[in-house]
Amino acid sequence: MGVVMLMNRIEKAAVNNPARRALQRFYEVPALLGLAGGPLAPGSRAVEIGCGTGYGTRMILDRFRAASVDAIDLDEGMVAKARRRLVDRPGRVRLAVGDATDLKAAFGAEDVTYDAAFDFAIIHHIPDWRSAVAEIARVLRPGGVFVFDEVTAHALARPSYRKLFVHPEHDRFTADDFLAELPRHGLDVHGARTKIQGDYLLGAARKHRPGSR
Ligand SMILES: C[S@@+](CC[C@H](N)C(=O)[O-])C[C@H]1O[C@@H](n2cnc3c(N)ncnc32)[C@H](O)[C@@H]1O
Repeated sequence: MGVVMLMNRIEKAAVNNPARRALQRFYEVPALLGLAGGPLAPGSRAVEIGCGTGYGTRMILDRFRAASVDAIDLDEGMVAKARRRLVDRPGRVRLAVGDATDLKAAFGAEDVTYDAAFDFAIIHHIPDWRSAVAEIARVLRPGGVFVFDEVTAHALARPSYRKLFVHPEHDRFTADDFLAELPRHGLDVHGARTKIQGDYLLGAARKHRPGSR
């Protein structure tokens, strides 16, 4: 495992409050569904990195209609909460404590394992964020979708973020940096949008199919 960063107490409270959940449910998920071209095909297997307390995991099951989700977070406390939230979904969710940059260690994930991968505001926490993108690309099958909702360097530079939260200081990404990184790993962006002057980036990309242009 490389350098890792857990959220501080204030960020945990900010992430897990009802206003953010409402935003996620009523704005972000519909927008991401639009960018991804709708729900997943029946029987789809998904992986979610940085699942936190499992709220997004439920959205992946209920709204994106994944058949199953492998969900991982570094923070044991978060995974314990996710386990309680998802107790009514036996057999459809596997939870693991571990690093998003090594899904083989967490789930034994071989190359080309998943139909979809989800990142709900976690990659900006990873100091070597490119290795997380590489790991997602490794485990997605050709044609598989990567759905992302990210916090960019613009937001992290704002006084409120700097004062309250702890994030990696170096190699932060703008929306353009993030979108430019994806094709380097064979991920073709097919829809993206920013909000609040580039602070947040929502989008979807597909793993390149060999032979397609
Ligand atoms: C801002 S929170 C988002 C949580 C959740 N996705 C949500 O939308 O509520 C970021 C999460 O990423 C986790 N995290 C940070 N670095 C990680 C890593 N390298 N591997 C897995 N999880 C990580 C943190 O523990 C935290 O739960």
